[in-house]
Amino acid sequence: MSGARHLYVHLPFCAQRCGYCDFVTVVGREGQHRAYVDALLRELEQESGALAGELETVFLGGGTPTFTALPELVRLLDALPAGEEVTVEANPETVTAELARALHAAGVTRVSLGAQSFRPELLQVLERVAGRDDVRRAVHHLRDAGFDNISLDLVYGIPGQSAADLEADLGDALALEPEHLSCYELEAKPGTRFTHAWGEELARQADAMEDYFERVVARLSEAGYRWYETANFCRAAGGRDLRAHHNLGYWLGCDYLGIGIGAVSTIGSERRRNTPRLGRYLEALAAGRSPERELEPLDDAVRARERVMLGLRLDEPLPLAGIRHALDPAGLARVESLGLAERSAGALTLTERGRFLGGAVTAELLA
Ligand SMILES: C[S@@+](CC[C@H](N)C(=O)[O-])C[C@H]1O[C@@H](n2cnc3c(N)ncnc32)[C@H](O)[C@@H]1O
Ligand code: SF4
Repeated sequence: MSGARHLYVHLPFCAQRCGYCDFVTVVGREGQHRAYVDALLRELEQESGALAGELETVFLGGGTPTFTALPELVRLLDALPAGEEVTVEANPETVTAELARALHAAGVTRVSLGAQSFRPELLQVLERVAGRDDVRRAVHHLRDAGFDNISLDLVYGIPGQSAADLEADLGDALALEPEHLSCYELEAKPGTRFTHAWGEELARQADAMEDYFERVVARLSEAGYRWYETANFCRAAGGRDLRAHHNLGYWLGCDYLGIGIGAVSTIGSERRRNTPRLGRYLEALAAGRSPERELEPLDDAVRARERVMLGLRLDEPLPLAGIRHALDPAGLARVESLGLAERSAGALTLTERGRFLGGAVTAELLA
């Protein structure tokens, strides 16, 4: 029997809430970490029929997975099914030598560190706990523990940031020789405290985003990284495929099971999202019930549109078989004539210029 080959596990606990963050998180709650891991394992048992016998990837995301009480995190990792790639997201200040060794011993193959920036004044704007030395220390602890697949997250467009700050951040990140880098435009949700505090400066940063994006791609490509997805880069030398295989599963339209509060699953013709409310989630699972979920039917037309939107973020050709009905032939011809996309052997690839324009090109292509 087939089933999802990708498992996402949400660990929502954080030491504090950063102003720009829009993820499902809860601060502290040390007294509930154990009950939460119990609940996750119950949900996994309930949903085990949705998973394939062998998993390609397991991804523990947050929140701050590494803020979870270490014995609970290890108990969870020990109980999860094995995967070829097992990733844990970590905040730099939480990575001690002990944590790094424990993750490695528990079968984690990849750690994704949220650095965001190395400039103290920008980290302060983001309300981050970790400073540049924490990031460096974390990388060294992970290397000492045996990790050979480390990813760093950076954000750009931070209030107060200049192009020179971004170049300096890229230089600091490259000096740590990570296997993988994710560089995201900072998104500020309207109506949040962060947006309220930095409104005008965020507008100035929005005008600089295109330039920042080009700088990121140029600098990392020059340093030998493969720009394999809009915001993601991996070391290209050495014959290993260092792309983030869990996320690659999403971009390629594969099914995945998500467990935990706020977790999303896409399985066959349905997408569902667990309640983001910790209390209700714990209550339901403790009583042996499924957590409350929002359900969204996914018909063939929706899945085909998503395949186009996500597939074209990658540097590899998107096979058009089975998804042609999602494309507007006139839009396709326009995009091709402008040199933004190329068609060959039943597949479509964005050119470099097309990739920089990204979403705007995809919008033009969709029927
Ligand atoms: C799920 S978050 C959590 C990771 C971890 N707790 C941390 O803060 O480092 C994963 C990544 O998403 C990115 N991210 C979070 N909020 C963002 C935002 N508002 N705009 C752009 N990227 C964001 C950050 O780079 C972060 O490292
Ligand atoms: S530590 Fe990460 S997940 Fe937690 S609030 Fe900050 S950005 Fe969000």
